[in-house]
Amino acid sequence: MKTAFIFACVVALAVVGGCQGGDLRRSFYSTSCPSAEAIVKNITQKLVASNPGLPADLLRLHFHDCFVRGCDASVLIRSTANSKAEKDAPPNLSLEGFEVIDEIKTELEKKCAGTVSCADTLALAARDAVSFQRKGLTVHDLVVLSGAHTIGDGHCNLFSNRLYNFTGKGDQDPSLDSTYAAFLKTKCRSLSDTTTKVDMDPGSANNFDASYFVNLKHKKGLFQSDAALLTDRTSNKIVGELQKSADFFKEFAQSMKRMGAIGVLTGYSGEIRKKCGVINS
Ligand code: HEM
Repeated sequence: MKTAFIFACVVALAVVGGCQGGDLRRSFYSTSCPSAEAIVKNITQKLVASNPGLPADLLRLHFHDCFVRGCDASVLIRSTANSKAEKDAPPNLSLEGFEVIDEIKTELEKKCAGTVSCADTLALAARDAVSFQRKGLTVHDLVVLSGAHTIGDGHCNLFSNRLYNFTGKGDQDPSLDSTYAAFLKTKCRSLSDTTTKVDMDPGSANNFDASYFVNLKHKKGLFQSDAALLTDRTSNKIVGELQKSADFFKEFAQSMKRMGAIGVLTGYSGEIRKKCGVINS
């Protein structure tokens, strides 16, 4: 079942990755909008300084965007009276950070109207928020990218079955460290708690480092998707290889680059939206 979950993810990655086309380049806006990258960086870093949870928001926003119809910033589009947007689909309801993209985009439009796409704005902001360079993804990519759970938090209801009712018999997930489970129970008091959030990487939740993989090896992964990485021999081995931050950073940068290339619209495909939440009229 857990292996099937990993497999399903990889199939999804492969399918989406297969839709990619066109050409992606660094410094794409160096002629058309030379200040674009500096604008994104300055605003992102200013906002991150006052909100340490922001890198996690932006990274997750970018991931959710890329995995539905490719990295086209469709996740930013707001629902209208006639159509329900991707943004309002259940897995996306807890996404945050939209206002940051709006603020950056407003500034970009002032300097270079109609030039910098919303997808690039989101990808650059996610890159700058975690301070590293930003198909056909593999199991290796999936394990490496799951290391993004080194920052941010998770709602109790998304994992509390592991604490209180793992197999429907009021039991606990045996693959979860018992001390960690006892700690989580002090935070998430019941299955019906939908509001409390806990750090995904206890002890270093705001640090982008390899401690997610160290905790994971000690059976302290918060979600079932995290724990599942240990149940497959290949992915378990990769978890073991990512215990040091330097190794994780190198691999993460490469996998993020591949994720960020999924289904990106280039050339004359798509449109440069004036406001990321609304399709141009
Ligand atoms: C393997 C499949 C994945 C699953 C099933 C998964 C699941 C989740 C869940 C359930 C949450 C908690 C949401 C909440 O409680 O509001 C979460 C948070 C998060 N995820 Fe994932 N995730 C996956 C992969 C990824 C990837 C590939 C990335 C980025 C590259 C990522 C980045 C994040 C971040 C940064 C957060 C924290 C958000 C915040 O604190 O604002 N995840 N994920």
